[in-house]
Amino acid sequence: MTNNWKIETQAVQGGYNPKPTESRIPTICQSTTFKYDSAEHVAKLFDLELADHMYSRISNPTTAALEEKIALMEGGSGALATSSGQAAITGAILNICQAGQHIVAASTLYGGTYSLFANTFPKMGIEVTFVDPEADSSELEKAFRPETRCVYAETIGNPNLNVLDFAKFSALAEKMAVPLIIDNTFATPYLCKPLELGADIVVHSTTKYFDGHATSLGGIIVDGGKFNWDNGKFPEMTDEDPSYHGLKYVEKFGPAAYIVKARVQYMRDIGCCPAPQNSFLINHGLTTLPLRMERHSLNAKTLAEHLEQHPAVVKVNYPALKSHPSYSLACKYLPNGCSGVMTFEIKGGQAAGKKFMEACQLVALVIHVADARSGVLHPASTTHRQLTEEQQKSAGVDPGMIRLSIGIEHIDDLIADVDQALEASQK
Ligand SMILES: Cc1ncc(COP(=O)(O)O)c(C=O)c1O
Repeated sequence: MTNNWKIETQAVQGGYNPKPTESRIPTICQSTTFKYDSAEHVAKLFDLELADHMYSRISNPTTAALEEKIALMEGGSGALATSSGQAAITGAILNICQAGQHIVAASTLYGGTYSLFANTFPKMGIEVTFVDPEADSSELEKAFRPETRCVYAETIGNPNLNVLDFAKFSALAEKMAVPLIIDNTFATPYLCKPLELGADIVVHSTTKYFDGHATSLGGIIVDGGKFNWDNGKFPEMTDEDPSYHGLKYVEKFGPAAYIVKARVQYMRDIGCCPAPQNSFLINHGLTTLPLRMERHSLNAKTLAEHLEQHPAVVKVNYPALKSHPSYSLACKYLPNGCSGVMTFEIKGGQAAGKKFMEACQLVALVIHVADARSGVLHPASTTHRQLTEEQQKSAGVDPGMIRLSIGIEHIDDLIADVDQALEASQK
């Protein structure tokens, strides 16, 4: 499959190339199991001598088409689809990090990721130091330890919407000889390609814009294929794996070593694989990703500019606005748009915010972003509820902040709905 196509073409046709009389679109291969003619063939599969499908926990044709398409769109050497974004983030890190080791993460993260890093990883013996992504490099360097194994951040922080300084973070990761792992969920490869900006691994909640229609949970890990694992810090990548009779991933799989290991070890052992039906639906959604991202971004920018002028609004937070602290980074890294999520502070605080959310009609109150349908949410009492007040502050979540996920409806209808809800909020 060619990698020279533009992303619009990759989104439509990438990852699947049917032979004559085969179905035009990848079918749902709803089978756990595959048939073979010889025991030798099966033995070769178990020894990783052949890459054919073996069992749908490890790989499946429907999921493979999705993985190949996303690897193409992100410009990676390979990808592994998972049952959710959380499973992708967990796998991306556990693949190279174990008890006694440490990661450095930007503090401006999705609440679930923050909680995974602040609570669950420490229980497994992996410590996490959260850093302010705006700090300068010398300050950030202080967070690193000899046992640090990766740096983690989001392209556009959820819900702070700060845009990552890729030049600073990729230089830092390179200096510290650890991979930079980027959650590119909010930007998608249509708006930003982290692997071209110095990231080594990309993760997504495909539940969001990739699906785009709120039908299927999913996640993906994409390997850039360029990180040098043979630097003494990653013996699990370079030394013998006893669970595969002494196989050495880097030696055997070269630029695909990281993603092969994630599949045949993490996915084999933990089993957080997607259902083929979900892979099919997410692949369907991807077909229109570039069109949708263009409209999400345009609608959100227009609404953000409208809200900035509204008397019932104290402050609007959207990186395409000149007033946003990340405006210059957004111009540099997100030239085609800043995606569909924005936050704002309403006059009258949390009480007015509650009235606003309940008065919205077209914009629905949902625990979700990145759907074709617009949605609204109060992060402090929902997605970031489990965080302490201090943790919420460091993640950029103010108590009065309202998050809007702007869909692809007509902008006039969205503005009319938001305006009537703002009016109702002030009564
Ligand atoms: C930026 C980001 N990353 C990861 C996740 C987790 O993804 P999932 O809900 O698919 O597990 C989310 C969910 O909202 C998210 O917004």
